[in-house]
Amino acid sequence: MRNLTYFVAVSLDGYIAGPDGQFDAFLVEGDHAMPIWERYRGTAPTQLASAAGLTVTDGPFDTVLMGWNTYSVGMPDHHIPNPYQHLRQIVFTRTHEAPIGSEGMQFTGSDPVETVQALKQEEGKDIWLCGGGTLAAVLADEIDRLALKINPVLLGEGIPLFGTRKYAAALWQRVDTRAFNSGVVLTEYRRP
Ligand SMILES: NC(=O)c1ccc[n+]([C@@H]2O[C@H](COP(=O)([O-])OP(=O)(O)OC[C@H]3O[C@@H](n4cnc5c(N)ncnc54)[C@H](OP(=O)(O)O)[C@@H]3O)[C@@H](O)[C@H]2O)c1
Repeated sequence: MRNLTYFVAVSLDGYIAGPDGQFDAFLVEGDHAMPIWERYRGTAPTQLASAAGLTVTDGPFDTVLMGWNTYSVGMPDHHIPNPYQHLRQIVFTRTHEAPIGSEGMQFTGSDPVETVQALKQEEGKDIWLCGGGTLAAVLADEIDRLALKINPVLLGEGIPLFGTRKYAAALWQRVDTRAFNSGVVLTEYRRP
């Protein structure tokens, strides 16, 4: 069965973005960048990957899930209404319509848990939970793998890895950890 993987950058104090959604404190460049890209190929917006000469095919995912707030980071200032065109894109929102330029994407107010359970019954590659924390907390019990890009920074405040909604306590099994000179650590866990 397909795994749901929450692959996300996080600060040392457990935030995926600052209080206003800023994520410029996370390290983009450094010796971690290419190895993490090779492991999670396809997890950059199609346009940005293309501009950087990166190939988006042959990655572990064929589907990406986003909460509206995560999706809307690309809108409107960055003009990326259709970020991951090489993946099946599902955005969860109960209040927004599909914006212009988002053709081919799916915007749904459906229960994320039911949506994921249905997706897992389909054939395909793994499913990438892009974020954010609010959606991750809703889907916490459905997440099979956690892949954390831990950045060597304290943010002090911000959007928590699993939002503010309560979710079940669980023990996870570490699968792999790679530490880089940049200070970034990629650590991966699976549900035992
Ligand atoms: N560090 C990283 O790698 C990383 C990755 C992803 C995101 N982020 C950051 O995370 C931040 C966004 O996270 P967030 O926690 O604020 O928001 P989020 O999880 O991205 O989106 C929350 C929104 O999703 C919709 N939603 C939530 N539960 C739903 C449900 N049960 N059914 C239908 N729709 C539902 C709602 O949208 P409506 O109000 O429209 O209904 C809700 O307001 C951004 O700043 C982004 O930059 C960081």
